[in-house]
Amino acid sequence: MCGITAYCGQQEALSFLMQGLSKLEYRGYDSAGITTLENNQLLTIKCKGRLKNLEEKIKNYQVHGSIGIGHTRWATHGIPSNLNSHPHNNSHDTISLVHNGIIENYRQLKKELIENGYTFQSDTDSEVIVQLLDYYYDGELLEATQKVLKRIEGSYALCIISTLEPDKIIVAKKDSPLIIGKATNAYVVASDIPALLEYTKDVYFLDDLEVAMIKKDHISFYNQQGKRIEKTLTTVPYDLEAAKKDGYDTFMLKEIHEQPYVINETLRGRIFNEQIILDELKDINFQQFNKVYFVACGTAYHASLCGSQVLQRVTQLPVISMVASEFRYNDPLIDQHTLAIFVSQSGETADTLAALKLAKQKQATTIAIANVLGSTISRDSDYVLYTCAGPEIAVASTKAYTTQLVLLILLAYYIAQRLNKEVDFQLIHQLNSIPQYVEKILKDEKIFEKYAYMLKDLHDAYFIGRNLDYASVLEGALKLKEVSYVHADAYVAGELKHGPIALIEEGSVVIAVATQPHIAAKTISNIQETIARGAHVILFTTHNENIKHVENIYYLPQIAPTLQAILVAIPLQLIAYYTACIKGCDVDKPRNLAKSVTVE
Ligand code: G6P
Repeated sequence: MCGITAYCGQQEALSFLMQGLSKLEYRGYDSAGITTLENNQLLTIKCKGRLKNLEEKIKNYQVHGSIGIGHTRWATHGIPSNLNSHPHNNSHDTISLVHNGIIENYRQLKKELIENGYTFQSDTDSEVIVQLLDYYYDGELLEATQKVLKRIEGSYALCIISTLEPDKIIVAKKDSPLIIGKATNAYVVASDIPALLEYTKDVYFLDDLEVAMIKKDHISFYNQQGKRIEKTLTTVPYDLEAAKKDGYDTFMLKEIHEQPYVINETLRGRIFNEQIILDELKDINFQQFNKVYFVACGTAYHASLCGSQVLQRVTQLPVISMVASEFRYNDPLIDQHTLAIFVSQSGETADTLAALKLAKQKQATTIAIANVLGSTISRDSDYVLYTCAGPEIAVASTKAYTTQLVLLILLAYYIAQRLNKEVDFQLIHQLNSIPQYVEKILKDEKIFEKYAYMLKDLHDAYFIGRNLDYASVLEGALKLKEVSYVHADAYVAGELKHGPIALIEEGSVVIAVATQPHIAAKTISNIQETIARGAHVILFTTHNENIKHVENIYYLPQIAPTLQAILVAIPLQLIAYYTACIKGCDVDKPRNLAKSVTVE
């Protein structure tokens, strides 16, 4: 998704703008640009493609201004092109703006502006905002911005500079992330914390519909009604080192290897004397709920699918797990007796945020499982539990997923405890050992690399599993698709015979997960059906009876079945990773994907 940077201070803006954009590259983008104020003129430099193209182009200019804005664009309206890249300027070249989000009523606004004599250079919805600013400008940029915000519908994070008021940046947000940092002799702005860390850890979180006016040595905040408000500075605990590759070739590999550590961090302080401690939730009366919803997107949805099955098993509460984009339009059955759990690494996913809003309107009690401190989801939900995965930079989620699984299992058992249900103490003990088991599996990396050679030339791969293993294979197939572009689908093993088996032929590869003892034998029978039709199988299991003709079996440690999803995630991530590497794919930044999807 688009990334934004802005600088207003005593130094030249360029170095912050560019380092910030490079830290935001992980969000996915197809073009980039900057505007700085140079001797009271706008200097806008932008182009299609990677940041290095922009860097080359910048070399042809003198860029020294100490106020500037930057942008990486992920196309929504209009193809990736130089003209559609941000920043966008008004026709008089006095106002320049960067925008992340989608303006839903831009067609109507564009029509109005054209009727008023405005002409447009790009196909973007964003250009409408800058022309509208021009239309409303009457000597006060702040006032013009406030008028424009009343006219636009949709989502936005905006940074605006102008030659008419060359001492300031106006920033505003609604449903798209934007964070303001207070650095030494400067204010710095970005879509995400890693872009700020080299300059400061002290940040203001702008809330939806708020506006900030930033000058070199002063910042003021305004609410939707235009009234001055106070905001407090928060110090974020992230450390810059955590956002570097640490000698690994890619962020994805680094993040896969960080899992023993971050799982330990996520468990830290949450198990004591065979009790699960989630003090953040101590005020909730769990007796009041008659159902639970889990809502998320992508990988976080797969973690939710697993968490929801565990929760239902241990609490006997009815649980429904839904993809956020479906939940919103599906008339969910929610009232004040509903507990709604929202899972999101970034805490900024537009569909998940909209689902949260809906659940709150319908009076559910809401809990967010988030990784990014201070993210919108963590501020908007009633309660929040943080995974402690640290910054996840690779687009394909790995450590965020396994820490989500850990936290969701803790949450399930915590709720069971609070409902006075019987809790399996052995499992709680084993949770503490998960980091060691993950460490052990990581040592077998070469085996998973070897499996990747079976997949590298394929067009399709098939993943099968049942119960909790189904959530695992969904995630395994997603990882493979995302990074290696091998088409992969996951099936409930029992459904193979109802259609997918028609696709199995000589040379097909089936990746099967069978870790749930009560049903493993059945998955293994399904594997035999695929072998009989020529498939090569890679099986992950704890079951060791009666497995015939399977060429590749990886035995997972014998721990509680409920915890196996955490362990099997590791080989599936590594298979996807190595398949992508062998094929020469850009593992950290897969095509067309964005780390944080801040549009619907
Ligand atoms: C994008 C990312 C996925 C991620 C999903 C949900 O599609 O590419 O890796 O799982 O968004 O993101 P969230 O931040 O809400 O967990």
